[in-house]
Amino acid sequence: MTTHSTTLPTPEKPVCILAIESSCDDTSAAVMRNGLLLSNVTASQAVHEAYGGVVPELASRAHQQHIVPVVHAALKQAGVKREELSAIAVTLGPGLMGSLLVGVSFAKGLAMSLGIPLIEANHLQGHVLAHFIKTPDEPHTVPPYPFLCLLVSGGNSQIVKVNAYNDMEILGQTIDDAAGEAMDKCSKVMNLGYPGGPIIDRLARKGNPKAFAFSKPHIAGLDYSFSGLKTSFLYFLRDQLATDPDFIAHHLEDLAASLEATIVDILMKKLDLAVKQTGIHHVALSGGVSANTALRDAFKQRADKRGWNIYIPKFSYTTDNAAMIAITAHHKFLDKDFCPLDKPAYCRISSKTKLQ
Ligand code: KG4
Repeated sequence: MTTHSTTLPTPEKPVCILAIESSCDDTSAAVMRNGLLLSNVTASQAVHEAYGGVVPELASRAHQQHIVPVVHAALKQAGVKREELSAIAVTLGPGLMGSLLVGVSFAKGLAMSLGIPLIEANHLQGHVLAHFIKTPDEPHTVPPYPFLCLLVSGGNSQIVKVNAYNDMEILGQTIDDAAGEAMDKCSKVMNLGYPGGPIIDRLARKGNPKAFAFSKPHIAGLDYSFSGLKTSFLYFLRDQLATDPDFIAHHLEDLAASLEATIVDILMKKLDLAVKQTGIHHVALSGGVSANTALRDAFKQRADKRGWNIYIPKFSYTTDNAAMIAITAHHKFLDKDFCPLDKPAYCRISSKTKLQ
């Protein structure tokens, strides 16, 4: 059964979308009216801190607890009633299956009970389209098509050529770990806590980025690799701890700064190459790692030096959030690109060349 009876808005009725994101360890709901964001509520999951990484089973249980209050809060903050909604949008993938299923089942049930369409969003497209989120009180510049986007998160490191909201080419991507994953794993090795990215960012501000050198990958083209760096960091610590058991405590800030500088350098070199190869000078950052201070600084410096036009999202739209799903869905709604109720959630994207 692929269809359900739905009511579409009339021209005079506003397009009002409730969006839900639950692909990893954040439960988020947002309400958007005619492309303007009215609310964006996110419940994070502290339960994973003790394990140094996301535990999928605990993540799906926490989503179950959070989904109803988060959706209620998003509707309340927006001042929108369920009967006013035109469509329900949800992240269908990629992500953790147990996490996705909570948001997807909830969204399908709500769409069916209200008799309105369901819209699916790709989580990664959502991160890219975070640049187009408009709020009633904050004017901002959106990138013109085509633009390049460095999408760096806990699960992905990609350079994407964005031709349109629904046409994104993957020019390069990690062949193993993602940049955020490398930060999180190195943080775990140093017993710093989870997620490691923000902790390393904070410590690095007081450290020397040239104190230590770690291995950098030699990968052809625009692809990335971060697993070698992680191993190099691990072996370096093992050797140093053999002679100084307190090496980490003695050099914490320098270790963080040197690790961060290595990751930023790897990311920026390939981005530079992508700009040269494509000739596109409108360049954006997206994803959780785009909150990183050193990456933002390097990005701005490179832009000044090379004459790029750059676009950096607001902090609240860098990590996982439903506002980015709402803006994706708004475009799809205008194109009447709706999702059958029996379309299943997915863990990975099916194409290596297209972000779809
Ligand atoms: O986009 P996101 O919330 O989730 C995914 O879709 O993966 O990204 C989470 C990642 C984590 O690896 C986290 O450590 C990293 O973003 N992160 C940071 C910073 N804030 C979050 N990495 C470096 N510096 C930060 N300030």
